[in-house]
Amino acid sequence: MIINGPNLNLLGRRQPEIYGEDTFEDFMLHLKGKFVDSDIELEYFQSNHEGELLDKLHEIGYDYDGIVLNAGAYTHTSVALADAIAAIETPVIEVHISNVHKREAFRHHSYLSPHCEGVIVGFGLRGYELAVQYFV
Ligand code: DQA
Repeated sequence: MIINGPNLNLLGRRQPEIYGEDTFEDFMLHLKGKFVDSDIELEYFQSNHEGELLDKLHEIGYDYDGIVLNAGAYTHTSVALADAIAAIETPVIEVHISNVHKREAFRHHSYLSPHCEGVIVGFGLRGYELAVQYFV
């Protein structure tokens, strides 16, 4: 399961110089094509609401094989998401499209990273593909 948090529904239109020009829906088609010969099933969920992200983690976090999570700005603010990742059993890989360490200082800290299997930052949408590859 790939989960995107707030403002990531605007990919393709949002600051393309940072986040690129592709919509996530187009990227998902590309990604599904890449993994068409493997027996994994890829799903996608996006929400701008912290509680909905928590509900989705609780819902799938005991059954699914892997979660690729870009929590957007909640990465830097949400103790609740950190607690959810710590609580569930499914391993989570944290992804950021941009290199958050090259950006403002408030983006350098993640509440989520200590509870994640790994972290991929700065490789654009390719980061999601690398994360999925880990679970295959
Ligand atoms: C982001 C980085 C965050 O700091 C930012 O708030 C986002 C996107 C990224 O993918 O680079 O919304 O998670």
